Amino acid sequence: MKYFLDSAKIDEIRYAYKYLKIDGVTTNPNHIKNSGKSFNKICKKLADEFKNVNFPISIEIDPHMDKAEDMIREGRKYASLSSNFVIKIACTEQGLIAAEQLVKEGIKTNITLVFSVSQALQAARINSTYVSPFIGWKENNGEDGVSYLKNIKDIYQNYGYKTEIIAAAVRNGYQIGKIAAYGIDIVTAGLSVYQDSLYHPFTSYGIQKFCKAWEETKQDE
Ligand code: E4P
Repeated sequence: MKYFLDSAKIDEIRYAYKYLKIDGVTTNPNHIKNSGKSFNKICKKLADEFKNVNFPISIEIDPHMDKAEDMIREGRKYASLSSNFVIKIACTEQGLIAAEQLVKEGIKTNITLVFSVSQALQAARINSTYVSPFIGWKENNGEDGVSYLKNIKDIYQNYGYKTEIIAAAVRNGYQIGKIAAYGIDIVTAGLSVYQDSLYHPFTSYGIQKFCKAWEETKQDE
């Protein structure tokens, strides 16, 4: 299973690439804002930093755009900065029209803000490279985000769709485990979610217990 980092903070991305073996990055306007840097600066930095490796980086176009032609123009512009860049577009009718055109031109796309199976179906039908169904937001709304992801996976398998599923807005290790059991291709989450997923209280308890045993063990004369 591939792990993507949901962030636009360069230091976090570097750390997760080096030590957590992340396979790609997903950005969104919120992450760009939280980085404290401009959109263009982040794009240039990410293009440069990973220019020698295959490392998909989703770049979300200006969400104000509501016409396919504008999205296509914007998508072409950012895709030309790096072969790693994946153009991330919200799942609207115009967004899907734009994505279909970009795909035809060989530009990678990620259909985002996906909250229903029917939205995910159309993303696959237009051959989007990735689709991002959000789990966390649905669960905050009292919906079962994990089984909806399984439905999408099953449907993609039924029809042999090639679009890779990115489980987005993932909040904890439990969700990561469930998603992995369903064979979801990719998970994207913030750095602390991955770090917390490596923690278990019994591991800490065990370390304490073994430290005590170590200290009480007879030393060589
Ligand atoms: C996915 O690509 C989104 O960037 C992301 O998962 C959004 O969710 P969050 O910011 O609520 O975690």
